[in-house]
Amino acid sequence: MQATREQVLDALSEGPVAGPALADRLDVSRAAVWKHVEQLRAEGFEIDSGDGGYELVSVPEFGASAVAYGLEAPFEIEYHDSIDSTNRRARELATDGRSDVAVLADEQTGGRGRLDRAWASPSGGVWLSLALRPGVPIAHAPAFTLAAAVAVTRAAREAGVDARIKWPNDVVVGDDERKLAGVLTEVEGEADRVDWVVVGIGSNVNVDPAALPDEADATSVQDAVGPVDRRAFTQRLLEEFDALRRDLDAVVPAWRADATTLGKRVRVETPGGTVEGEAVDVSFPGALVVDTGEERVTITAGDCE
Ligand code: BTN
Repeated sequence: MQATREQVLDALSEGPVAGPALADRLDVSRAAVWKHVEQLRAEGFEIDSGDGGYELVSVPEFGASAVAYGLEAPFEIEYHDSIDSTNRRARELATDGRSDVAVLADEQTGGRGRLDRAWASPSGGVWLSLALRPGVPIAHAPAFTLAAAVAVTRAAREAGVDARIKWPNDVVVGDDERKLAGVLTEVEGEADRVDWVVVGIGSNVNVDPAALPDEADATSVQDAVGPVDRRAFTQRLLEEFDALRRDLDAVVPAWRADATTLGKRVRVETPGGTVEGEAVDVSFPGALVVDTGEERVTITAGDCE
């Protein structure tokens, strides 16, 4: 969001304010204040203009300014009603040297999942990609995937959904482990230092599972508890992710606490073959440790059943 618009919103959050006073405070013209107020109205903010000046009446449920308003994490929000893929756009930004940008969309027309699968992204979801330049070794990048899974799980729980994480990055609900959210992390760089990381998080929030092609395996926040405020959901997700990325050592313990995989028998399809056994741990930065009965196998990539 543009800095002046953010300042206009900050001022409005304190109570009604007259246009000229606001212009003086922000050191801009009255016309500029009016333009920002009109832009905020166009984004869905309800702003009365009465005798007492401008008064903020309501904040929209979604959008760039809505998510930025009151957000306690230093992400710039770029919002799209519809885009092919937020990961594609975040890659573009990251390649251009941008960092800490959250690309957010209501709908994706070409969403991608792991293993180059299509990711259905109808209107009503929270389709989000973070462009980051964290300056960590490439081997630490999987920790960002786990951090994202923990962040979505916490946002879903805050919304009233009993969500858990299935290794490595699926957020699931219920005994039948229906998928609520997934994470697709993309990385570029050298072994000792990444150039950028894009963390793409797809959360089925206010989505009817019937709109998802694999509806038998998928669920949504709406399906579990009814429609929720996507602004609050997205803010919580961003704030949780921000705290975890600053303390990567906290990621694995947080992941363990929210996991459904540990202690269960699993069958993992890995690039090197199938591994079956009991999932006993996750080690930094995100490998699954499986006890096959004969040995402990550490798996860094695979599909887990
Ligand atoms: C998975 O296969 O489980 C990962 C799905 C990741 C989907 C998200 S939606 C936002 C971002 N943009 C994309 O195209 N993909 C990711």
